[in-house]
Amino acid sequence: MGESSYIRDLINLAMLISGRGSNMDAILAAIRSGRIKDAKPCIVISNKPGAAGLKIASEKYGIPTKVVPSDGLKGWQYDQIVVTTLHEFGVTPESGLVCLAGFMRILSPEFVRQYKMRIMNIHPALLPSFPGLHAQKQALDYGVKVSGCTVHFVDEGMDSGPVILQKAVPVIEGDNEESLSARILEQEHKLYPEAVSLFCEGRIKIDDRRVSIT
Ligand code: GRF
Repeated sequence: MGESSYIRDLINLAMLISGRGSNMDAILAAIRSGRIKDAKPCIVISNKPGAAGLKIASEKYGIPTKVVPSDGLKGWQYDQIVVTTLHEFGVTPESGLVCLAGFMRILSPEFVRQYKMRIMNIHPALLPSFPGLHAQKQALDYGVKVSGCTVHFVDEGMDSGPVILQKAVPVIEGDNEESLSARILEQEHKLYPEAVSLFCEGRIKIDDRRVSIT
């Protein structure tokens, strides 16, 4: 074996969606093109049966999909079904990464603790500004001149976990929610695959809540 024949274990990737799935699409495209190495997409889970992203995952990429409907299930009651599904598809806390990509549910503490620093989310603002829903509208209403997007690890709070990567996007004269969202989304599609790639290459280090890229 030569010195360069080191083989890294693949990270088993799950994506959780509720709708359009454009960030999921960007991540899967990056895997397909080799921009993300060392990742194996294993399963896409949606809590909404009609999520457009499901079709993209199965038809464009041939990735297994599963609908786990919420149907009034709360917190861990729901999440334990998701966690069982993740295990079924090989996405474990040891070898997996779970990417929330427009998944419109808050994860329970139990789920977050089991997959500590192995769940990522993308948020369409520069956290800690404008967490929660309608982040782009919040930014416009506040009158900031710069917003952007953030990829972060998920902790037990709302959009409050350690920040992995951020990208600034200027707010321009005449912007409305739609135009600003579109410009931020363009950057999301680059930033999220980059963060996944860094994770899969083992280049993300966390010290308390400070993330460094090695
Ligand atoms: C994105 O704006 C993302 O930042 C937020 O939800 C939206 C999901 O869009 N968390 P998509 O489903 O990835 O197209």
